[in-house]
Amino acid sequence: MSKPKHPLEMTDAEAAGELARLATEIAGHDLAYHTEDAPCISDAEYDALRRRNTAIEQAFPHLIRADSPTHRVGAAPETGFAKITHRVPMLSLDNVFDAAEFDEFCARARRFLGLADDAPLRMVGEPKIDGLSISLTYENGSFVRGATRGDGSVGEDVTANLRTMKSVPLRLKGDAPALIEIRGEVFLSKQDFLDLNAAQEAAGGKIFANPRNAAAGSLRQLDAKITATRPLSLFAYAMGEASEEVAATHAGYLARLEDWGFTVNDRRRVLESVAEAEACQREIGEARAGLGYDIDGVVYKIDDLALQRRLGFVGRAPRWAVAWKFPAEQATTVLQDIFIQVGRTGALTPVAALAPVNVGGVLVTRATLHNEDEIARKDVRIGDTVILQRAGDVIPQILGVVADKRPDDAVPYAFPSVCPVCGSHAVRPPGEVVKRCTGGLTCAAQLVERLIHFVSRAAFDIDGLGEKSITEFYEAGLIHSPAEIFRLNAHEATIAAREGWGALSARNLMRAIEAKRQIPLARFIYALGIRRIGEANAKLLARNYTSFANWRAQMLAATTIGSDARLELGSILGIGPAIAEELADFFGEERNLATLDALAAELEIEEDRAPEGANGELAGKTIVFTGSLATMTRPEAKARAETLGAKVTDSVSKKTDLVVVGEDAGSKAKKAAELGIRVLTEEEWRALAGM
Ligand code: IVH
Repeated sequence: MSKPKHPLEMTDAEAAGELARLATEIAGHDLAYHTEDAPCISDAEYDALRRRNTAIEQAFPHLIRADSPTHRVGAAPETGFAKITHRVPMLSLDNVFDAAEFDEFCARARRFLGLADDAPLRMVGEPKIDGLSISLTYENGSFVRGATRGDGSVGEDVTANLRTMKSVPLRLKGDAPALIEIRGEVFLSKQDFLDLNAAQEAAGGKIFANPRNAAAGSLRQLDAKITATRPLSLFAYAMGEASEEVAATHAGYLARLEDWGFTVNDRRRVLESVAEAEACQREIGEARAGLGYDIDGVVYKIDDLALQRRLGFVGRAPRWAVAWKFPAEQATTVLQDIFIQVGRTGALTPVAALAPVNVGGVLVTRATLHNEDEIARKDVRIGDTVILQRAGDVIPQILGVVADKRPDDAVPYAFPSVCPVCGSHAVRPPGEVVKRCTGGLTCAAQLVERLIHFVSRAAFDIDGLGEKSITEFYEAGLIHSPAEIFRLNAHEATIAAREGWGALSARNLMRAIEAKRQIPLARFIYALGIRRIGEANAKLLARNYTSFANWRAQMLAATTIGSDARLELGSILGIGPAIAEELADFFGEERNLATLDALAAELEIEEDRAPEGANGELAGKTIVFTGSLATMTRPEAKARAETLGAKVTDSVSKKTDLVVVGEDAGSKAKKAAELGIRVLTEEEWRALAGM
């Protein structure tokens, strides 16, 4: 088996291509996992995707995408519950899988803090509970608000549901701060999960794949009376916002949680060394099968809360904690067939149909085979017995083939060279892994997928127009392009007469469409479904070009390689040359322009305005640190500056806004003075950055 290329051996184009693929793929899995409670790959496979993404980003920092998975935690919350914005984001954890990676985590933390390699670093180890994380807010000791994590910034208000849980104290015992937010994991015990599924089966209700999904499904009930019947439990383990300091160490904090009336996991341990952590990992691993609840690893947290504050966060994860995951579970089954799905951008994705097999309690029938190269690399053939692996609750990855079980007549899989939906040629540009249908909008699969994307929640978000009705209207010949959605009013009577519609539904649909004739520029751009232009990139473009007319003109100008417009586009932070090329390709295509203009003619596209008072004094500033800093390391200073929206660069130029000088600052300080740039001492910097 040949391995995927090491990032250091990749070209820019290869790296950009793979980062784009990973961003889309990971976002898809996030959505399946967080919003639909229905993941479709194993945790191990998911982790592998994220790690691959990070490795490539480290080698190609200039190619980091605005929609990079490193910046995101999960998927945006479902509708149905009110939204709650987390004042302290609810983030995720980085994973390690062996002692060497764990050592490296500790070494990184020490380096960041400027500690010696052998300086003691006390930690707390706790089982990593496989449930869903929630936040509980208490005011003057009373439970007032509870939320799910959602996408880490905005979660769902599940206060009423949480109130039904015995393990959520409605009043805190003893002394508590005026305001305190407590975080923890809601889960179902293994036995309660089995009982629940038995009851569901008897009642003809939904069967859950595993305890985690059952817990999520039980908590996110619009009717809290249903939640009340589900025996949900909670382990409290982390801190959100607080009006005063409640402890100096994490262990001390956990003790206070117990005093207040929370259940804290009794397998937690204070650890003085890496050797003790390794022993803890082994012991909890051995105890795992006998525990009454699912765990998928051990979380290690630096005990000293002052150090935690200094370490802060990078991307979606804290620098002061890490999850050391257990190895995954495996099984074998027969690969019965491979079929091809065609996506919105024409990507042909091979999917494995498997003989149903139970992997660690989950019935598995499907797995993605990713792309042509993956199939060839693993030499997976129809009829083969394949080895599956999963670490969580999801459709697993195919690790490889059991060679001696291969049927004599099994032949290598021939990846189709034409689109299975429209018959157009499928091509693979050099350096890319994905084969695509060239049918564009003549391919029904692509067209329908594009229209579905067009009306989806983050795009035009048209009530009553989803996958089902778009497909229906397409098949009935009512819509072939986005613009035609806005001309559906001409067909109102036809729609009203269709089975399952009626006058009222047709009228409501027309109203919903009318309501979206006015649309923010960012949504409009995202809705076009241009490859690599996800929500984040669409926002960047809208912010940068402000109006539709300007954006259109600049994109047309950018189709000329080397033009100023092209250079400007490629230099937008987060866009980069690869995405610029994608936009240029889109605008270089006559048919796309026609589609775009026909659509724009139906709409009023709103200009993008910067949000009020966007943000603190340091936002958007370019800062240079020079000389040696006495109270923080460079990475710490840089991380803080970036958190506040500033950019940190190495050399002083006319573009520099601020220079922070430590001791023995040399030529850079001099140059700053010459250029009349504002110079700060370390002390002044700390004050300005609120450190
Ligand atoms: S601490 C800032 N402790 O794992 C990080 N998380 O993969 C705060 N989890 O989102 C999380 N057991 O849902 C922490 N003992 C534990 C945990 C735990 C399970 C979950 C939690 C988190 C996810 C990260």
